[in-house]
Amino acid sequence: MNYRHAFHAGNAGDVLKHVVLLELLAALQRKPNPVHLIDSHAGIGCYDLASDEAQRGGEFRFGVQAALADTAAPRILPAYVAALHDLNPGLRDDGSSLQVYPGSPWLLARSLRGPEDRLSLCELHPQDVIALKRTMTAEFGRDPRIAVHHRDGFEALKGLTPPSPRRGLVLIDPAYEAKDEFAAVARSVQAAHRRWPTGMLAVWYPIKEQKTVDVWKATLAGGLGAETIAVELTIRAAREAKQMNGSGLVIVNPPWQLAATLQPMLDFLGSRLAREAGAGTRIETLVPGA
Ligand SMILES: C[S@@+](CC[C@H](N)C(=O)[O-])C[C@H]1O[C@@H](n2cnc3c(N)ncnc32)[C@H](O)[C@@H]1O
Repeated sequence: MNYRHAFHAGNAGDVLKHVVLLELLAALQRKPNPVHLIDSHAGIGCYDLASDEAQRGGEFRFGVQAALADTAAPRILPAYVAALHDLNPGLRDDGSSLQVYPGSPWLLARSLRGPEDRLSLCELHPQDVIALKRTMTAEFGRDPRIAVHHRDGFEALKGLTPPSPRRGLVLIDPAYEAKDEFAAVARSVQAAHRRWPTGMLAVWYPIKEQKTVDVWKATLAGGLGAETIAVELTIRAAREAKQMNGSGLVIVNPPWQLAATLQPMLDFLGSRLAREAGAGTRIETLVPGA
C-alpha cells in the first residue's frame, strides 16, 4: 500500500467528491429518521495543508483553493464552503488562509444528529488508521456512534451492509492502486446493492482515459436494478491513459432531483478547475429511475 491521500488532499477530485457527498447527506437529512453512514476507504480524516506531503504536489491549489478564489463560491457551494469554515475558523473569503482540509470521515461525522445515527469508517493502512482514530477523537470526542475499523473496506462492506439503522449511504473511495481494483469495486457495489437495495451508494473513480471508464461504468451499472447516475469533472481532455485527467462518482439510488441540484455546482467547478482545453463536466444517467 503506497498510496497516501495526504499528497492529494483538496485536489479537484476531492472537491467534486465532497461537494457531491454533502448534497447526499443533505438529502438524507430531509427526513428526521436515523441514518447509518459507511466510509469503506476513509483515509486519515483531516489533512494539514502545510504538511510536506500536501505542499509537495500542491494539488489543493488547483482544487479547493481555485474554487474558493471565486467570490461566488459561498453562493454556489454553500454546504461545502460552510464545512471549510467550520474546520478553519477565521478562514478568509478568498480561501487563501485555508489550513486544514476535511476528509470524508470528518464531513460524515459532522453530519451526525440523533443518538441512533451511526458512522462506520474503514481504513487498511496501518499508520493512516491510527491517524484517523486520533483525528476523530480529537475532533468529535469519544463518540459511541462512530466506529473506526482497521479493515479491508471491500471485506467490511459484506458485514456492514445492510446496516442498522437501515437508512443511509456508503462512500466507496479506493486508491485504485491495484490493477484489478476497478473490477473489485464493480463487484463490491453490485453485491452491496443486492444486500441493501434501498441504500445510497456513492463510488468515486479517477478518469484517465474516458473510453475505458465508460466501459467500466456500463459494466457496473448493468448489474444493478436501481436508478444510477454518474457525475464527472475532467480538468483536461481525457485521452492520455498515463495521467489523471479528472474524476467522477457513480451514485446508486440518488436522491430526488440530485442532478438538478448539482448542475450549477458542476458548471461552477468546471469553469474554476479546468486546466487545459478539452476539460468538461457531465451528469449521465446509467440506469433510469422507475
Ligand atoms: C482516496 S483515499 C480516501 C480519501 C477519503 N475517502 C476522503 O475523501 O477523505 C483511499 C484510502 O483507502 C485506503 N485503502 C487502500 N486500500 C484499502 C482497502 N482495501 N480497504 C480500506 N482502505 C484502503 C488508503 O490507505 C487511503 O487512505
